[in-house]
Amino acid sequence: MSSPDVMEKLVSLCKRRGFIFQSSEIYGGAGSVWDYGPLGVELKKNLKDRWWHAMVRARGDIEGLDAAILMHPRVWEASGHVAGFTDPMVDCKACKARFRADKLEDAQCPRKPSKHPGEHGDCELTEPRNFNLMFKTFMGPLEESASVVYLRPETAQGIYVNFLNVQQASRQKVPFGIAQIGKAFRNEITPGNFIFRTREFEQMEMQFFVDPDGDHMQWFEFWKGQRMAWHQSLGLQQDRLLFHQHTPQELAHYARAAFDIQFDFGGTLGFQEIEGVHHRGDFDLTRHQEYSSKRLEYVDQVSNRRYVPFVIETSVGADRTTLAVLVNGYREEAVAGEQEGRVVLGLHPSLAPIKAGVFPLTKKDGMPEFAEKLSNELRPHFPVFLDESGAIGRRYRRQDEVGTPFCLTIDQQTMTDGTVTVRDRDTLAQERIAASSAREYIAARIGHLA
Ligand code: GAP
Repeated sequence: MSSPDVMEKLVSLCKRRGFIFQSSEIYGGAGSVWDYGPLGVELKKNLKDRWWHAMVRARGDIEGLDAAILMHPRVWEASGHVAGFTDPMVDCKACKARFRADKLEDAQCPRKPSKHPGEHGDCELTEPRNFNLMFKTFMGPLEESASVVYLRPETAQGIYVNFLNVQQASRQKVPFGIAQIGKAFRNEITPGNFIFRTREFEQMEMQFFVDPDGDHMQWFEFWKGQRMAWHQSLGLQQDRLLFHQHTPQELAHYARAAFDIQFDFGGTLGFQEIEGVHHRGDFDLTRHQEYSSKRLEYVDQVSNRRYVPFVIETSVGADRTTLAVLVNGYREEAVAGEQEGRVVLGLHPSLAPIKAGVFPLTKKDGMPEFAEKLSNELRPHFPVFLDESGAIGRRYRRQDEVGTPFCLTIDQQTMTDGTVTVRDRDTLAQERIAASSAREYIAARIGHLA
């Protein structure tokens, strides 16, 4: 199946099964903003928990932070975003559409979709103009230039301005890192591809502070390796992941070196960035020192040196990685002996929004009561779904489609010996286990802190 089909099918599945809805749908939708429904919020939360565990909880050298979205406007002057966080934009005077001037080859002419904008006679493109991607609003009741604030376009700056607060409170020594997960906003000119490029999204960012006279390039390599391994641990296929090194023309204003981790979304999207690993040097801390007139130096107690550390940044999109795991997991399969095939979301068990379906085979002989009791026992430990309606095959299909790794069926034998069947989503293998051991059985296979 070609990937445009997969994306279309995912959009439909995500809506139908409650993963992701278009924002403000009843009003015709808000442009490229999406809401996460009951299953989507669990999936994205599991992904964020995996990141937080790997980057903060499992390490002694990284501290967590939750900085505010609204910051002092000088932050964005210091960071270079007011002057330079722009994309070149062109308008078509003929059809009134707006495009990124540097991405015309990725866009379609609304009038002639087989052509790129500017490629046929009717197009009348303006000269490129720079468009700042930051959303502006006002702090307080007065809508005047003195009260302009921005919705942050990256979470990183909240970490830099708190660098010394966190270092002194936690008594960390360089090298150490600060991590946070939070919303970021960019007024993208051409958002799209479902949750791939949106105007409101979540980032998971970590800034690692290192000695500028030390082995900073080794740390850069270390974090590249760690981050690639993390994406593989989510079950993203190895041959769909690669590093892309930024050329000097591609490097952001703050970066000395940068690698993207790209995932192959297939179809016309192909390989695209899901994470950036950046060597930011001392750009940010030095600029904040300059603009705030406050020292942001680290004092090395052993050598008695005072210095502004270099920063190695890892920056990954929670929504874009959610899309990657959905695309990676989606498959359609024939089922032996059945006319209808099945749709499976092959999500890693730790990411699956529901860990187990619980099915009484029939509605008699005490099976529904047993199933309800078992669900109630499992639910405090992980999300389970009790489904009593429809043929058993149909119930399996409903869980396959949302990525539930295990289904427990209560049948006649359960009522005599207390065992249930466990059916594996991927292999379809079934085995009998004691209902009393179901919790340990599933917990061991989820490996949610792996
Ligand atoms: N602090 C560095 C930084 O923000 P970036 O490469 O601009 O770097 C990092 O963004 C990640 O954030 C990207 O790899 C992507 O996963 C995610 N991201 C960026 N813009 C996005 C958008 N408009 N919609 C969804 N995710 C986005």
